[in-house]
Amino acid sequence: MIEDSRDIIYVGIDLGTSRSSISASNGKRHVVDSYVGWPVDVDARELIKKPVLVGRDALDNRPLLDLRRPLEHGTRKEGSEKDQEAVRELVRHLISLVETEERGKKSKVRAVVGVPAETFRVNRHNLRNTMAGVADSVMMVSQPCAVAYGLEALLHCLVIDIGAGTADFCVMRGRYPTEEDQQTIPNAGDSIDEQLTKLIRERHPDAQFSIHMIREWKEQHSFVGEPKNRVIVTVPIMGKAAEIDITQEMRSACESILGPICETLTGLLMKVEPEYRSKMRNNVIVAGGTSLISGLPQAITKSPGCACRTWCGAPVASRKGRSQRGRTCRGSCPTRRAA
Ligand SMILES: Nc1ncnc2c1ncn2[C@@H]1O[C@H](COP(=O)(O)OP(=O)(O)OP(=O)(O)O)[C@@H](O)[C@H]1O
Ligand SMILES: [Mg+2]
Repeated sequence: MIEDSRDIIYVGIDLGTSRSSISASNGKRHVVDSYVGWPVDVDARELIKKPVLVGRDALDNRPLLDLRRPLEHGTRKEGSEKDQEAVRELVRHLISLVETEERGKKSKVRAVVGVPAETFRVNRHNLRNTMAGVADSVMMVSQPCAVAYGLEALLHCLVIDIGAGTADFCVMRGRYPTEEDQQTIPNAGDSIDEQLTKLIRERHPDAQFSIHMIREWKEQHSFVGEPKNRVIVTVPIMGKAAEIDITQEMRSACESILGPICETLTGLLMKVEPEYRSKMRNNVIVAGGTSLISGLPQAITKSPGCACRTWCGAPVASRKGRSQRGRTCRGSCPTRRAA
């Protein structure tokens, strides 16, 4: 059979709970917020003038939209039809950002998609169905493995990708990781946001704030260990702007993921053959946006007595404040994700 004469673009896609990115063989790279929204009614559609919004546009127009953050449910468990559709729209949008047209014909798209380790284990067929028709061919790879391959860290190393929805662990033993080598836990950025919300509400029941404000405060001021500065934020209380000190709440919320992460790390290390264990302990790679919490990678690797490096593959992070891309690089950092 004669191959279609259209150009082929190879794309790598990272489907994240909070942000998704695409990197294409034609050199184009993009990161978008993982939000998809449909106008709630005819009036909203009139205003928006588009059938669906994706990324920052969706987030900014949220009052007018049925807004989804589809990776929270769509790839983890059997998400609703709407979540599946939202994943499809998100991938379609990412591909449209890198696609080119040759003689009026769109390029053929061959995609490698990074998904959370747990999704890869239990739900990859579901996700593959969701992607049908969006790209010409699709291959799935678990996200922490993608980090390891990107760094060529294939032997005696342990990758922890701490994102928004999950922390994904993968032990690299020089062969393609099996299910046994991978583990996912729900203790990551979103659980910190929930915890921080709860703690601030307890102490300041009259303060008014949204989850988006909580996320911005966290991205600007997150830390574990002894505080270097007080964390003061401005919130409306009884209709007036007030400054509140949330240093202790910030510390407790950020430290809430440390225990489960250290336990999982230790458990995985225990399964490694004793002769390779110390090599692996000294080769822990911490990646993902939540690894930007000040002091977190050091705290993680302190407990089992191991050393780590962080990978600045963490995405662009917050819209303002300190989590800009330059800051993401600690330790050795051979590669960067798309901007
Ligand atoms: N400076 C920072 N301090 C603390 N958290 C941060 C910082 N910058 C970003 N984050 C958090 O990192 C998370 C996003 O990281 P990332 O993009 O790796 O997640 P994701 O890939 O979308 O999620 P997942 O891998 O779980 O599907 C969010 O919870 C975000 O609030
Ligand atoms: Mg991720």
